[in-house]
Amino acid sequence: MSSSLKYFVGNWKMFGIPSSIKILDKINSYFLKDKKNNKKYKILIAPPLTLIQDFSKKYRNKKILISAQNCFYKDKFGSYTGSVSPYMIKNVGVKYIIIGHSENRAQGETNKIIKEKVLLSLKNNFTVLLCIGENINEKNKKLTSKVLNSQLRNVLKKNYNFKKIIIAYEPVWSIGSGKTPTNNELTKTILSIRKFLKNSLKTKEHIKILYGGSVDKKSINYFKSIKHLDGFLIGGASKSSKNFIDIIKNFYK
Ligand code: PGA
Repeated sequence: MSSSLKYFVGNWKMFGIPSSIKILDKINSYFLKDKKNNKKYKILIAPPLTLIQDFSKKYRNKKILISAQNCFYKDKFGSYTGSVSPYMIKNVGVKYIIIGHSENRAQGETNKIIKEKVLLSLKNNFTVLLCIGENINEKNKKLTSKVLNSQLRNVLKKNYNFKKIIIAYEPVWSIGSGKTPTNNELTKTILSIRKFLKNSLKTKEHIKILYGGSVDKKSINYFKSIKHLDGFLIGGASKSSKNFIDIIKNFYK
């Protein structure tokens, strides 16, 4: 079962300058007008680090929530040129953070590093969006569940506050490719993640699981039929207010 509150999360990746706030403004206006459905969903936007302070200040009392896309694996302050700690991000008013995106994993981020980042983010009271996903070779070898379980096992601990953890299942081969898992594959994978969380991590509450990978205004029509999802992590289509709004519109159509 999925919870009724859905998440539409925009991951801007390396995109955006200060004037890109107009994208948020348009999404926010749509949200306010969407009286019929707007109690059923939350919108999060993850702009780059250069913008999160300004955006989170401007959006402090608005409905769109601001998320960070990543953080460094050490906390507070230190001699780590170019790095930003969870503590520093928290202090600009951001409460959500994406950790373990496959694009960061591809740059050498290991489960061990991700584990540290999750731990420090939880300590700083963030809600963590933990990304997991198999690559195409792993999928072809039918290793999807094994890979996902190991990504979860190596990062999460039984005593964590799972109300503060959202899992984003993003098959690596689907990101930015226009390829998506079949309904059957996706349902099976989501149920297998839920089973692992319940049996191995002994979670009692409903953990939110999002899907990410080529979600756009067309594919959302198909994804909305999958009952076990709590929302979507949207890359490319979140950089335009129209595309992002169309996803929400089509989801509730
Ligand atoms: P995409 O990216 O929607 O462009 O496929 C998703 C993601 O990387 O989170």
